Amino acid sequence: MSPLHVTRTLPEDATDAALRADVLSGLTVTPKWLPPKWFYDARGSELFERITELPEYYPTRAEREILATRSGEIAAASGARTLVELGSGSSEKTRYLIEALGSLTAYVPVDVSESALVQAGQALVEERPDLDVHALIADFTAPLSLPATPGPRLVAFLGGTIGNLLPDERAGFLASVRSLLAPGDGLLLGTDLVKDERVLVRAYDDAAGVTAAFNKNVLAVVDRELGADFDLDAFDHVALWNAEREWIEMRLRSRTAQTVKVPALNLAVDFAAGEELRTEVSAKFRREGVTAELAVAGLELTHWWTDEQGRFAVSLSVAR
Ligand SMILES: C[S@@+](CC[C@H](N)C(=O)[O-])C[C@H]1O[C@@H](n2cnc3c(N)ncnc32)[C@H](O)[C@@H]1O
Repeated sequence: MSPLHVTRTLPEDATDAALRADVLSGLTVTPKWLPPKWFYDARGSELFERITELPEYYPTRAEREILATRSGEIAAASGARTLVELGSGSSEKTRYLIEALGSLTAYVPVDVSESALVQAGQALVEERPDLDVHALIADFTAPLSLPATPGPRLVAFLGGTIGNLLPDERAGFLASVRSLLAPGDGLLLGTDLVKDERVLVRAYDDAAGVTAAFNKNVLAVVDRELGADFDLDAFDHVALWNAEREWIEMRLRSRTAQTVKVPALNLAVDFAAGEELRTEVSAKFRREGVTAELAVAGLELTHWWTDEQGRFAVSLSVAR
């Protein structure tokens, strides 16, 4: 069995400059905000896996249905020998692709969550001893340096995670994905689709409160890493649909007027009663928009598959 290769491009210590910079810039502006990548320490990744099993959270099931039924077509169209997966998490749905891609020799999962990467990577090297698994602990919003593995290359970005990027971030991200591809290489993209507001809001505000715990986990990360004194019980989880931007916003609403100290930054952050901190946007898409955004990045959409209920889409596009 070939061992799991793990490469780290993020600093070992999560109290790194990026977290400090994000907390400093996000908590000293109005409205306050934090980027979603800080949800995903080991507990955040575990909570996300629990979210994927919730009855209200349809995206994982819908995308799994597409991959289970379409992986053969995806494999035939791509012929990839290297599969790179951005924000791979548990790599659970990816197994359909790995199985279908008959010429695959290397799998390169990329994630900020070391715990999720190592757990998924270890399981895969045991299941598929013939496959080179190069796990990359890296931030996919920064330039990536991929291991030298054989082409053609297929980059997968599943779970609707692209919706967590703001529109201008998405444009930069897609351009940088394109720069990882040679002409003929592909991008397999999972996008959640615009639908009934009630279905969308329920998916981000489940009855069991798992999404609320996931949302508040970002405060626990800032407490642990920067010595802050966020009281998680002093904030309420909020999920709302922004119809104009066509995205779900997750926020944390301060129950009272309070001051939170962040000693590592020598910072005191005032919250008014009812003030909200935005922790994530999750954009929902339409086919025309996805096609156009890909085209701007030099990617031509060649396939578009949805689940039976038309809730979620997986598209394949080719670098020109
Ligand atoms: C919404 S989850 C999706 C996980 C998996 N792809 C799925 O479909 O179930 C997002 C994943 O992306 C990772 N992630 C979030 N922001 C990231 C970033 N900036 N760079 C690398 N990974 C990131 C998280 O750790 C998490 O595993």
